[in-house]
Amino acid sequence: MIIRKSPAELEKMRKSGLLVHRVLNSLADMVTEGMTTMELENAAAKMIADAGARPAFKGYFSAAAGTRYPYVLCTSVNEQIVHGMPSTRIALKKGDVISIDTGVQLDGYYGDSAITVGVGEITPSLGRLLEVTKQSLEMAIDKVREGNRLFDICATVQKHVEENGYSIVREFVGHGIGTSLHEEPQVPNYVDRNNENPRLKEGMVLAIEPMVNLGRPQSKVLSDRWTAVSQDGSVSAHFEHCVAVTKDGPWVLTRP
Ligand code: MF3
Ligand code: CO
Repeated sequence: MIIRKSPAELEKMRKSGLLVHRVLNSLADMVTEGMTTMELENAAAKMIADAGARPAFKGYFSAAAGTRYPYVLCTSVNEQIVHGMPSTRIALKKGDVISIDTGVQLDGYYGDSAITVGVGEITPSLGRLLEVTKQSLEMAIDKVREGNRLFDICATVQKHVEENGYSIVREFVGHGIGTSLHEEPQVPNYVDRNNENPRLKEGMVLAIEPMVNLGRPQSKVLSDRWTAVSQDGSVSAHFEHCVAVTKDGPWVLTRP
């Protein structure tokens, strides 16, 4: 069942969304050569605590991993796709790309968003990967309208990514979001005719999160049981926004 949110609930999700935006924006500004991903983690933890919110990922139990996720952020560098863990031993180098993903719970409601940024100057090839991934999310956001169906979102991401010669990661998907971090429906970045294709209705909120590899689509999870990497070692990009279906069209809760 897809839970639809009232206007009052959407206002609460808006507050969570804007906090997540503010955190990611600050972290993007902080990213510099030589810093460790744990410095980003510590800054995010402080901002979220100062805002009176609860970090959504820290303590989140994944049945697949069999453990609770230990951090506020996922920091996935280069060939890491998602769920990379902040570490004092991971220092950013010029030319790296880092996906920063975070979520909060505020007044009962979740917000969840991710960005991928370059460390200093990155190659044109990586710049294009980030640009196309971000574009695929923007094009999908425009499909979050009453009367459209879930597959309109999935197909839009897949088409734009594949037309540009990149690969869609299949093993991880977007999701509904509300009073839980993960609600129905799953939001894959590709069309699978075996899945359900519900009509989008006012009050639904979707976390759309394309994960795009420069090379082959296959992924694997490292022995830490969380970090997902591309099997071929190619760089991966990830952007995410929470988007509500409203009478006036898509409402991106995770940006101003
Ligand atoms: N944006 C990701 C998601 O919604 C991040 C989850 S990390 C976890 O699935 F630790 F919470 F699992
Ligand atoms: Co998410």
